[in-house]
Amino acid sequence: MSESKINEAAEIINNSENIVVFSGAGISTESGIPDFRSEGGIWSKYDLSYHGNYYVFLENPKPFWTMHNELTDQLENAEPNEAHKSIAELEKMGKVKAVITQNVDMLHQRAGSGKYKNIPIYELHGSYKKLECIKCGKEYELDEVDTKNVEYPVCDKCSGFIKPKVILFGESLPLGVLNAALNAVRKANCLIMVGSSLLVSPANSVPLIAKESGSKIIFINNESTIMDDLADIVLQGKAGEIFTELMKKIK
Ligand code: APR
Ligand code: ZN
Repeated sequence: MSESKINEAAEIINNSENIVVFSGAGISTESGIPDFRSEGGIWSKYDLSYHGNYYVFLENPKPFWTMHNELTDQLENAEPNEAHKSIAELEKMGKVKAVITQNVDMLHQRAGSGKYKNIPIYELHGSYKKLECIKCGKEYELDEVDTKNVEYPVCDKCSGFIKPKVILFGESLPLGVLNAALNAVRKANCLIMVGSSLLVSPANSVPLIAKESGSKIIFINNESTIMDDLADIVLQGKAGEIFTELMKKIK
């Protein structure tokens, strides 16, 4: 990681008081949660178009729960890493005004984001801890439901299928959350994209919106993305390590 690029990015962050952070699965790999498309990622183990498909779930929830039970163990054992903690610190400093994430792991909240200045955390794909019956709508917390000793959990009120409130393939994103998140990007003067391959929508529209509104754009990723040309600065490397270096220069 070049020192001059870290200095340039730190300069932009020091001069910004309305930063929006957009995080993808790559921000959590250093916390032990695999991302989707890297080597060893979730796609290499599960065909998400089957295991993560809403219409398959409606017919038979078992393939989803088989995958979900394995991932839940990783989610439950994960701890926020330096990237999550730095983003929470930047909120405390009054710089980060919103976090948008495609992740369902709640590591931003566990790192303190949302606690210091009550900023919004827009979870575009929901969070794994909240579940609901898809028939009667009864809500459940993950720890109230036995998901391991059954083929799949059913509602104790109506025997409908219970599903985590995460967005599966074939489901639409929560429009209210998405619109609020995109408005936050429009109002920002700096966008930091962390750990997203920018291969899915709406992630891949966010940098374009930021560009149109004249924001500075910083990409943090351990590989190049198809949208790198849009960024003012691309910091290539591990998010935890990059944020550790950045925070040394941010006052
Ligand atoms: N530091 C920085 N970048 C990283 C790290 C790391 N430690 N680890 C992985 N990355 C990068 C990868 O190189 C990749 O570019 O993070 C990106 C992760 O990309 P994806 O796995 O495609 O995850 P994401 O962009 O969040 O898209 C995932 O797609 O399959 C759907 O709904 C699913 O939410 C999911 C979305
Ligand atoms: Zn029910």
